[in-house]
Amino acid sequence: MSKAATSAKTHDASDIAQYLVTQEPYYRPVSNEVQLYEAAYSARMPVMLKGPTGCGKSRFVEHMAWKLKKPLITVACNEDMTASDLVGRYLLDASGTKWHDGPLTVAARIGAICYLDEVVEARQDTTVVIHPLTDHRRQLPIDKKGEMVNCHPDFQLVISYNPGYQSLMKDLKQSTKQRFGAIDFDYPEAGVEAEIVMHETKVDKATAEKLVQIAHRARNLKGHGLDEGISTRLLAYAGQLIARGIDPRAACQMTLVRPITDDPDMRETLDAAVNTYF
Ligand SMILES: Nc1ncnc2c1ncn2[C@@H]1O[C@H](COP(=O)(O)OP(=O)(O)OP(=O)(O)O)[C@@H](O)[C@H]1O
Ligand SMILES: [Mg+2]
Repeated sequence: MSKAATSAKTHDASDIAQYLVTQEPYYRPVSNEVQLYEAAYSARMPVMLKGPTGCGKSRFVEHMAWKLKKPLITVACNEDMTASDLVGRYLLDASGTKWHDGPLTVAARIGAICYLDEVVEARQDTTVVIHPLTDHRRQLPIDKKGEMVNCHPDFQLVISYNPGYQSLMKDLKQSTKQRFGAIDFDYPEAGVEAEIVMHETKVDKATAEKLVQIAHRARNLKGHGLDEGISTRLLAYAGQLIARGIDPRAACQMTLVRPITDDPDMRETLDAAVNTYF
């Protein structure tokens, strides 16, 4: 059996099915990001989603994979991650050593959208595999196996990137950045964010609006004692506790204040902001 036949057998329709997003993930568009992404996907352009933590990047990719009816493979990158974790490796089993495709290789073979979350965290050697995938070649070299995978026509690479979290040492190189189209994400304007919080938690409008006001106070303190403001994700957490009958002040302390800072003065400032609304 040839190598190509082997790999075709390893990934069949059931592999694709397990990565399909079957239920519509709720995503409230904030600007023209859906349109931009659809056009980029139809050109199979690699896309970078830029924005702070908890502002909807992952939710957006899940929504788009559902909308385009394409399988989605998400990989959370971390500092220990190497190219082998993405591409694959030989593993020992009862019958000897056997090659196992990594998530990026599976995505390239089956034609999935591959979402590398926080790719800047991964080791530099991962860029070696990303480059031939994200230019006209659309190829994934598997050095250890001596195989060159030609990407499935539906394959697309999407990465996320939190601007401002990188040290100079860890930023992506220009030669990597300039292989992607980029879409900026940020916390949405107040009315839209309240709508999202209401949808995610079933709290009433007045409560959602108060939570958003508290977030705005905290976001103004970014760079003045806070590394990052309160995210939409945390607002949804607060709403979930309030909807379960927790006193709003306690809910906000647990979800909006305690997670983001250990500084006693800053906690006091944020607690005071909470108390002006609840
Ligand atoms: N536009 C939006 N539509 C629907 N939900 C949203 C939107 N923006 C934020 N959310 C809510 O915020 C939560 C966090 O969003 P998400 O997980 O996509 O953040 P992220 O940008 O991927 O963050 P990270 O960089 O930390 O991975 C979601 O679970 C959802 O409840
Ligand atoms: Mg995410």
